[in-house]
This record gives sequence, structure tokens and C-alpha cells, in this order.
Amino acid sequence: MNSEDIRSRFLAFFNKKQHEIVSSAPMVIKNDPTLMFTNAGMNQFKDVFLDNAEAIAPRVANSQKCLRVSGKHNDLEEVGVDTYHHTMFEMLGNWSFGDYFKKEAIAWAWEFLIDDLKINPDIVYVTVFEGDDEDGLEKDQEAYDEWKKVIAEDRILNGNKKDNFWEMGETGPCGPCSEIHVDLRSDEEKQKVDGKSLVNADHPQVVEVWNLVFMQFNRLKDKSLQKLKNTHVDTGMGLERLCMVMQGKKSNYDTDLFQSSIQALEKLCGKTYQASDSKEDVSFRVIADHVRAVAFAIADGQLPSNTGAGYVIRRILRRAVRYGFSFLNFEEPFMYQLVPVLEKKLGGHFEELIKQADLIGKVIQEEEQSFLKTLDKGLNKLGAYQPQNNVIDGAFAFELYDTFGFPIDLTALIASEKGWTIDQKAFDKHLKEQKDRSRAATAVDTSDWVKVADGNMDFIGYDFQSGKAKIIQYRKAVKKDTTLYQLVFDQTPFYPEGGGQVGDKGLMKADGQEIKIIDTKKENGLILHFTKELPSDIHAEFELTVFSNLRLNTEKNHSATHLLHHVLRSVLGEHVEQKGSLVNDQYLRFDFSHFQKVSEEELAEIEKKVNQWIDKGIALNEYREIDIEEAKSKGAMALFGEKYGDKVRMIEFGDSKELCGGTHVANTSQIGGFKIVSEGSVASGVRRIEAITGDQLKAHFASRANTLQEIENLLGHPKNLVQTIQKLQEEHKELSKEIEALINQKASMLKADLKGKIQLKNGVNFLAEKIEIESADAIKNIAFQLKGEVDNLFMVLGANIKGKPNITVVVSEELGKSKDLNAGQIVRELAKEIKGGGGGQPFYATAGGKDISGLDNVIAKAEGCLG
Ligand code: SER
Repeated sequence: MNSEDIRSRFLAFFNKKQHEIVSSAPMVIKNDPTLMFTNAGMNQFKDVFLDNAEAIAPRVANSQKCLRVSGKHNDLEEVGVDTYHHTMFEMLGNWSFGDYFKKEAIAWAWEFLIDDLKINPDIVYVTVFEGDDEDGLEKDQEAYDEWKKVIAEDRILNGNKKDNFWEMGETGPCGPCSEIHVDLRSDEEKQKVDGKSLVNADHPQVVEVWNLVFMQFNRLKDKSLQKLKNTHVDTGMGLERLCMVMQGKKSNYDTDLFQSSIQALEKLCGKTYQASDSKEDVSFRVIADHVRAVAFAIADGQLPSNTGAGYVIRRILRRAVRYGFSFLNFEEPFMYQLVPVLEKKLGGHFEELIKQADLIGKVIQEEEQSFLKTLDKGLNKLGAYQPQNNVIDGAFAFELYDTFGFPIDLTALIASEKGWTIDQKAFDKHLKEQKDRSRAATAVDTSDWVKVADGNMDFIGYDFQSGKAKIIQYRKAVKKDTTLYQLVFDQTPFYPEGGGQVGDKGLMKADGQEIKIIDTKKENGLILHFTKELPSDIHAEFELTVFSNLRLNTEKNHSATHLLHHVLRSVLGEHVEQKGSLVNDQYLRFDFSHFQKVSEEELAEIEKKVNQWIDKGIALNEYREIDIEEAKSKGAMALFGEKYGDKVRMIEFGDSKELCGGTHVANTSQIGGFKIVSEGSVASGVRRIEAITGDQLKAHFASRANTLQEIENLLGHPKNLVQTIQKLQEEHKELSKEIEALINQKASMLKADLKGKIQLKNGVNFLAEKIEIESADAIKNIAFQLKGEVDNLFMVLGANIKGKPNITVVVSEELGKSKDLNAGQIVRELAKEIKGGGGGQPFYATAGGKDISGLDNVIAKAEGCLG
């Protein structure tokens, strides 16, 4: 059974059990400051467990793209080294939201594995939570009793809090869990070692395939557990491991999910994958794994970059490139060639891979190229390095790691080839210091919520910019030395940052007290209002007011972004997809897929067309709660990597239709005009346009008009400004030429004069002279000409160049040797007289300084330099 069949069987099984099949949430999370990537199928349902959002259905199932490379669930270093961990993996999950619980979850898991997939029950072990004193929790007897109905009791094992109490993170929904493990070893091996003892012991053939979590609690900041209002089921099964079981393999990488990539890689590097522990085989696995993570992240709109989620993706990609480079001899980009293979294998279920294949390939190829260049620079640096006592010092190893992307084992490998070692301790110290620094810079210490009142949270900001509200909960968040409060109101007109649009700012007022709301963001379904202080009466009724001018200018930019998006597709082509957007009251920034520079003509046309839409005065048509399918059939543009529910909001300005949660002007004419201020590249295949509208556009034109006015004033209000400036430029050119000719003339006269003044002193042709010429180039010419014409020359020239002292020293080569004279050293010595410094070569050097009055001393001291 191939992976496609196994995935479909799972979904069909739970569909028959009345589960609604939903699509995977994006792997890259955009609107949750606490999590960068989906690391478990339940992430998208966290709000439902915490009772902050309503479930779309009481029972749901899907295959979720997960990435475990940061935070609590981090498998990165194991990936490829072993045969059953991954960065990106597919988690098959079924959920109950306050509906069925342990009984059904356990019975159905068993039914699916044993009756449907026909897995031999004799290879299965299950675990139940044994209880925990610290948390005051008893053994999960209920789960034990349910398992007892289907599996022999000696195959039900107790598990501790680490393995059998699942928590999403430091805080959040959690509960006891039951894991299902399979023992894939041969009978002979099973006789030697009892499978039981290998459960949860990191054995590659005794592995967990499915985790059934029974959500019952919310872990609070103070570590205590708070009971959830309802109980829920959250299960997660690794598709890759299930494929291993079903296909009778010993490694996830031997299943069809990875074999297509591994075989393609074999062709590219001319080596054969042997499924061993060798570095070569680890490299095959690392690359086959990592290319999936990177491709899915790019498809979700996350480009590799230097910060945040983009940096995590860059590091994964670099890890793969580095393995390919070190052990499979790839010196040119290669990973991008696996993108079509992935497209074929996974595109059937994840259409984003097909739709974005071009972009994914291009971005990966460019990243590979630039990293290989960096590696090459690092190698050169390492080549030129001379260690003391054959030990590479920690600071240098860290520089290679930090600046040139060399992981320490690559440096160690190259070092061992040269018979060197690394000062590992010192390297670790540098690494730790860096980690501490970045942790300190980003760490936010967030307290638990303080409940103030009951109530639901309503967003009224599409219709109102002010309103009355009460605080329902608040908490404190401390970052470095700044303390902010996050307030949640029962209703709010404040738009929380999202969809590229910044959060609203404004005021909250009650009892004569006025507090500024400095930002608004959304987290897990809650709208958080950021303030620097708490109101004196937390229970008061507040008047909330959004700063309407900021909001309006932001709306102008947001609506203009929609028009721009539409126009880009009509002018450049349908391949244009939104890749990023920022909208605030100052400007708009729009990133989109397009493979070459947008030409001046195209930009002019885009600007013109957007302005025509603005001039036409097209009214906004807002569909606040439209069925997603209906919106799509009307032609609404949905974005890859965004999470949409069944009901969506659609923003329509004529033909421009987008699924969007942002706020907009009521009519395009309000935008007032649109001007592109820059166009450039963000990454291979992704361009960026920045543009202004509204007040900024007015300010832009006003400042341009001012500048023009000043120029006209300066030029005495000529009739034709452009012609006048062109004429001035021509005159300037002519005059410059004339000046140059005059200087040359003067220089040749000066040279002749100087030559006549040279005196023979102790066999040296000596001259020290103050000269009158204001061009450093001319002095250099004179110096070199005299040096060429006069043997054994030692010459010091002092000049006043536009008010600054300048010294030139010339020493003929033969003189330099015979008398041990060095122009560079001499000029530095002489420069002290003019409070300056300089340098150059042994035969010609110059210096500048601050004290013009010192030039006479320079000339006076020159002869002394002859010794
Ligand atoms: N949340 C659990 C896990 O990630 C089960 O889905 O393992």
C-alpha cells in the first residue's frame, strides 16, 4: 500500500465515523507570536480547547503538515542520523471537541490499525499515563480499562509524565495520553530482548506510531493545572512511520514517501544509498527530509531569511546543502532538482506544491548558490589559517560557524584531515554566549491571565471606530526592561494586526483617566490591546477610540494593495502571487512572485492603471460571512499559507476580489492617488513594490513642489527649467575641462621650476619645497615625473589643498635600498607637524593633516630625514 492509499484510508475511516475532513493548516504560522511553525495537528484547534473559539464541527480529521525544529518539540539534530525522525512530517489526526472521549478514541484507533489496515496485533504495545504526584494526578485507569477490552493486559504499559502527559508548550492545553507502539524486529531479536523493555527507549524498530491525547487541562504559567470546560480528543499519527509499518520496511526512508527523492539524488550524485549509518547515507536522509520542509515552507509563503521563521528555514536548507557538499561531493546547487520529484509524490494531496513549484525551485536554487559561495569563502579562510599547536581556537571555529555557516562537525572534519583538533570547550562557550544574547533580546516573560469579568469578545471595528467596553481579562508581559499590559475587552473597535495590516492605536478612557493603546494584536483568538499602564479602576466601563487618521491612511494603503495585486496580475501575468504584504499609515509594501525586474514601462503602466481604478470611484462591496466555496466561485483570490474557515470575509472592489480580514476605504476614490516609490528583489523569483497613497502621497508631492520651487528661485525663474539646467551642466563640463588644462599647464611649469631647485647633498638629489597648486592629482603627476627623470631623488613637497595641508614624499628605489629610506615611514613622521597622518609605499607616500601652519616645519625637518 503506498502512502497516498494509506493517507486516504485514514481519512475515509474517520469520515465514516462522522468526522469532517479538513485541510491541513499552514505549516508556517503567521499570527501567533508564541509559535512559528505548526508542530502538532492540534495547534489550529488550540483556541477550541481553551474555549476561545467555536469548533467547526464536533469531530474533525485531517493530515497536518508539521515542522519540529524549534521550541519544545525539536527533532532537528536527530533527523537523518536516525531513521524515524523528521523535520517536516505529516500527522494524521482525529479530534473530538467536547464530543466523544477515551472510549471511542481507543476503540477506533484499534479498529483502524487492526481491522482496517490489518496490522498484526502481536506487534503492538500501548501505554497509559501512570499518574504524577507533583501534579496530583492519578493513573489513567479509564484509558487502561478501555485498552483492556482490545489488547492483552501485559501489552499495556505504564508511562510517566514525560512520555504520557502531552503538553503543547510551557503553557496551554494538555492531558494524559496513550501511545501506540509497534515492534518491527525479527522474531529472533524479539526472543533475545523483550519488546516491552524497548518501548520509549529510542530503538529504531520499536517506535511510537500514534499518540492519543485526552485533553483535560490548561497548564498555567505557575505550573498549576486548570481543568478545561470540556474534555477533548487529540490524536496524532506519523504517516511516515505508518508507511514503514505497512510497507514492511525498517526505516521511514525506505518507504515510497522518501524513496523517490533518494533515487533522484542517487542519479544526481552517482552514489548508491545503502541505508547504513555512514555519513553518505545520513546525507541522503538529511537531504530527502529537509527538502520537504523547505519546499512546504516556501509554498506557505515563508522565504528563507536572516530572522525568525525564515532563519529556521535557511538553517534547515543549509544543513542539507552542507551534508551534500561534504559527503556527496555536490559543489553546485542540486537540491532544487528534487522539487519536481516532491511535486509528483505529494502534489496530489498538497496542491500548493504543484502551483508553486517554479517559485520553490528558484528560491531553493538561489539559496543553495549563495550558501555554497559562503562555504567556499569559509574554506579559503580555513585554508589560510595557521593554528597554534595544531588546535583551532574557539573564536575562529565560532566565526566559521556564525559567519560562514560551518557547523562544528564540518570544521572538525576538515581539521582532522590536516591533523588538527578544535578547542571545543571554547567554541561551546562562544555558542552559549550567542544563544544567551539572542534569548535575552527576544524573551518575553508573560504572566497568567487575570480574569476580571465574564463575557465574550466581540470585534466591532468593521463598523465602528469607537465604543464602550469592559475588560474581561488582562496580563502582564515583560520584555527586557519594558513592561506592557495586554488587555482583552468584551467588545472592541481596535483592529488587531493581521493580513499585513498593522494593529490600531488609540485611547481608552474612563473616570477622567486616559490611557494610550499603543498596539493591537491577535493571539489564539483573543484581541490583545497593549498599554503601558493599567487603569486605576479595572472594572470601569471604558470609552475606546481608535486614532482614526492612522486607521484611514492605513485603509487607503490596504485597499490600494488589493488594486495593485489585481493590476499586477493583469499587467505581468497570472503567475503573480502575493508573497508578503505590509500595510501601515505611511506606505504599503507588497511582495509577489515574478521572475524578472519589473521594467520602467511596466511600472508606469501599473501605476496608471491603479490610479484609473482610484479615479473611477469604485464602491467597496464587503461580504462579511460568505461561504468559502461561493467566494472562490466568484473569483476571490485566496493566498497559499493562509488559514481560512468555511465562512470567510471577501473584499470586492469591482473585479478585485480577495479573501481578507482587513479594513478598507468605502470607495476607491478615497485613496486619493497611488505612487510607486520603489521596486526591487527580495529573493530569487520574488519582487517587492513599495508605494504611497493618502497623506503620504500629498506630503510627497508637496515636498517635491517645494524642492522645485527652490530650484526655480535659485535659477531666477527661467522659462524652461529643464533646458536651463541642461545648459548649466554643459557649461560646468566645459569649465571643468578648462580648469584641468590650466592646472596641467601650471603643473608642468612648476615641475620645471622644482627640477631646477634640486640640490645634490651627500650623493642624494634632495628637494624640500612648499608649492602652490591645489590639486592632489597634479602633485602626484609632478612627483612621479620627477622620480622618473632624476636619479637618487629624495623629495618632500608641501601644499595647501583647499585649506588643508598635504605632504608628498618621494624616495627613488635605489636610494631606498642604499640609505634605508622609506617614504611611508618618513611621511608618517613628518605628518606629526601638521597634526595628521598618512602612508603609502616605500617610494611614494602622502599625508594629510589639520594644521596648515605646520607645513614650514615639515620642509625644515625634511633634510634631517636623510640621516
Ligand atoms: N498532540 C499530540 C502530538 O502531537 C497528538 O496529536 O503528538
